[in-house]
Amino acid sequence: MNSPLKIHENYSLKHRNTLGLLASARYFVEVNSVDELPEVLGFARDKQLPVIPLGGGSNVVFGEFLNALVVHINLKGRSVLQRDQGRVVVRAEAGENWHEFVLWTLTNEAYGLENLSLIPGTVGAAPIQNIGAYGVELKDHFVSLEAMNIESGEIECFDRQAVCFGYRDSVFKGEKLDQYIITSVTLELDPVLRPKLGYGHLGDLIASRLDGEAPSALDISQAVCDIRREKLPDPSVIGNAGSFFKNPEISQELMDQLKKRYPNIIAYPVGAKWKLAAGWLIDQAGLRGVREGEVGTYQKQALVLVNHGGATGQNVLAFSDRVQQKVNEKFGIMLEREPRFYNGWVSSIG
Ligand code: FAD
Ligand code: EPU
Repeated sequence: MNSPLKIHENYSLKHRNTLGLLASARYFVEVNSVDELPEVLGFARDKQLPVIPLGGGSNVVFGEFLNALVVHINLKGRSVLQRDQGRVVVRAEAGENWHEFVLWTLTNEAYGLENLSLIPGTVGAAPIQNIGAYGVELKDHFVSLEAMNIESGEIECFDRQAVCFGYRDSVFKGEKLDQYIITSVTLELDPVLRPKLGYGHLGDLIASRLDGEAPSALDISQAVCDIRREKLPDPSVIGNAGSFFKNPEISQELMDQLKKRYPNIIAYPVGAKWKLAAGWLIDQAGLRGVREGEVGTYQKQALVLVNHGGATGQNVLAFSDRVQQKVNEKFGIMLEREPRFYNGWVSSIG
């Protein structure tokens, strides 16, 4: 084949997923330009293999062998498209590192993403589960994205409505699962900093550091990074995929019942419903810091499952089943997994 593309066969994915799971792909290719994608998709079509787009691998659980073409999206570039008194519109290509992109927006006096500092992974994956942290979600700043339709090879544009964002959710996890490769994302930011400091003790930490003075965007970003480093394990030290389950949303009725039995239950109102802290539920089920073989929960944050070294995706899945079971036995709530599970061809857990 007369191609500059390097398609690897039987490629180890151990260093391509932040859980550090032992896994390999039938084929693996890195894509550095949108122009390379048609050839890559043609290769998968010829081999009759599914395509798995991959960013930083920080929200995936790989089975041991993926009979697929894994496409590492390494598209780079970021630019300010428009700046006026009311807004700054920025665009980034899908392979940009999310945290570096956030810092770049702040140095360009484009504000709004500071609370999303230090989330691992890429810009292209950010809309897939509508990343969120410290009271901000991607959807709050989203304008549109471009994505290549894997079947037709056409580039299509999705606006906010078309992406159907929800809590850790979008159309790309539902109706349009496995149909697109996101190539770029366009966001609308603010030329004026409007701090959002209401989550947890973020506001208190900043107030204590600055003696009550107004924080800069970099002060907020730094505080968010410090809190995250304190609570969450660094994947380069111990394998993990962040929160392994979503925080469940429950009805007022169920909330009233639970509150009677567990007066200290941690819950936040969301419209007419309540969102429970899944980490607290797991913790109360006695599962914080436990270990079974190579898998366990993180000592400082029970919602994070960790790989102690030699785990496979099946080990992680089996352990997460037991966590679900125990939480269900105690609270009558079935937790929903957050990361995407791939095994054999393509299957998902949820
Ligand atoms: P990957 O893991 O590579 O991919 C995730 C999914 O998106 C896969 O299904 C993949 O096929 C698909 N995908 C990736 N790129 C593309 C593309 N270009 N086109 C189409 N599909 C694509 N998440 C939060 O929301 N908030 C947090 O605070 C948070 N904290 C975390 C902390 C840690 C320590 C870790 C390890 C993870 C955390 N996460 C968090 C989860 C994770 O960082 C996000 O989901 C992130 O957006 C995943 O990016 P990625 O590039 O690593 O995606
Ligand atoms: N908690 C416990 N025990 C635990 C873990 C947590 O009691 O073992 C309590 C905490 O003390 C706190 C509450 O539960 O009162 C919530 O904990 P935390 O603030 O750490 O947030 P979280 O709900 O566990 C969510 C997101 C994170 C995001 C943070 C900050 C989900 C599934 N997770 O975690 O996102 O960074 O809030 O906004 O929504 C991710 O999605 O991968 C992720 C890390």
